[in-house]
Amino acid sequence: MRHTLLPAGKGQSDYEIRGIVSKGFQLESKGHRIFWENIGDPVQKGMKIPAWMKEVIHHEIDNDSSYAYCESKGVPSTRQFLADKTNSYGGTQITADDITFFNGLGDAIARVYGLLDPTARILMPSPTYPAHSGVELSRTGKPLIQYRLDPDNNWMPDIGEIRSQVESNPDITAILIINPDNPTGTLFPEYVLQEICDIAEEFGLFIICDEIYENLIYDGKMTRLCEVAGNKVPAIVMKGISKEFPWPGSRCGWVEYYNRSADAEFDAFCRRVDHVKMTEVCSTTLPQLVIPAMMTHPEYPQWLKTVNTQLKNRMDKVRLVLGDIPGFTITSGGGAFYVTVQTNCCDMNYSVPYQRLTDEQLDTIRSWMKPQSAADYKLVYYLLCVYGVCVVPLSGFATKECGFRFTLLEQDESTFNEILNRLQLALSQWVSVPKPVPAHAESSELSMAVTT
Ligand SMILES: Cc1ncc(COP(=O)(O)O)c(C=O)c1O
Repeated sequence: MRHTLLPAGKGQSDYEIRGIVSKGFQLESKGHRIFWENIGDPVQKGMKIPAWMKEVIHHEIDNDSSYAYCESKGVPSTRQFLADKTNSYGGTQITADDITFFNGLGDAIARVYGLLDPTARILMPSPTYPAHSGVELSRTGKPLIQYRLDPDNNWMPDIGEIRSQVESNPDITAILIINPDNPTGTLFPEYVLQEICDIAEEFGLFIICDEIYENLIYDGKMTRLCEVAGNKVPAIVMKGISKEFPWPGSRCGWVEYYNRSADAEFDAFCRRVDHVKMTEVCSTTLPQLVIPAMMTHPEYPQWLKTVNTQLKNRMDKVRLVLGDIPGFTITSGGGAFYVTVQTNCCDMNYSVPYQRLTDEQLDTIRSWMKPQSAADYKLVYYLLCVYGVCVVPLSGFATKECGFRFTLLEQDESTFNEILNRLQLALSQWVSVPKPVPAHAESSELSMAVTT
């Protein structure tokens, strides 16, 4: 090339939610059965779209407007419907003009972050969903600034840490909250949200709150940001239909701007996001058109209730089967549809149970491990290679914590049981490796990788 294509020094993020797939395919092509637990797509996991939902969509397919471009910010009647919905919670009040649609929330994240001043930083949770961390890394070219979600305290943040990060980093301009959280499933209680809002107000920051899982709550209470942000704290709240309907292939998500009038610069930023949106005409029209009919359908509340009950039942089963394995901690979450298994057993004293593995399995894991691989990659490769369960390493969520994430989405009960049984067996064997690590393994690339 006449000119370099990639900007120098820009950070590159791993996207192991997808990256692990190629390794799974590699094994599948050799005839191994793989249990795909790496991605949060309910449809891929066998969820059936009910007939009434399809009827709502069929109805819009007969409407020629669904084939047309819509307004740049999105279909006005749908934006009004969603604004009314937010206003019905009785907190922050918005208008249809405070809502803008994107081609999925991933697109919204990239566009909104991409328009921020390159020196402005977003304080992000650790762990965090890679669409957020990845864009922040490549946008700034600098290490993330994060606040820790504490696995020993149900993945709650330490408000003192958030405050001290904000105090010591004048470039922090926004605080990201993912509620319910991906990967941990944690629901942020009202007082935590309130304290974060208070910090934002005190330091002149805005909040970014990803609420894509707002209606997937199987345990506990969901508090929306609109219920605590009042009329002072500027915020961009992100929502979508990928998980809730579920319709991930629709590529349809939206942002809601809260309290634009509280800060002229924030208002100007929101207008800039909308202005840039105009240059790409609009987002997918059909899914926007069906949103009001879908969400007001008489079957909709029962649909969500059934989905949430299934999630609760599966989570209860997870606790029963995996809850007591020494060294591995499962927190209950309460929202979204993920289970995070956190462990401190990825250090040198714990390892692949060499004596139980075939040479081929060992060679495969060795060939996948890279010197820079985080410690939990070895655990994840072991689960995939030996037990056929394809999960995502926790370190793939921009965190130093070790472990992995799987989902509560498997629709076939016997397959779900099978996955849990395999995980149970695998994790029990993992911790039962005799210590010290066998001599023949000490010199292997595996044990080297674990110390790096
Ligand atoms: C927390 C969170 N935000 C955003 C997204 C992206 O959703 P979309 O399908 O609308 O791009 C996901 C997808 O998994 C997610 O988990």
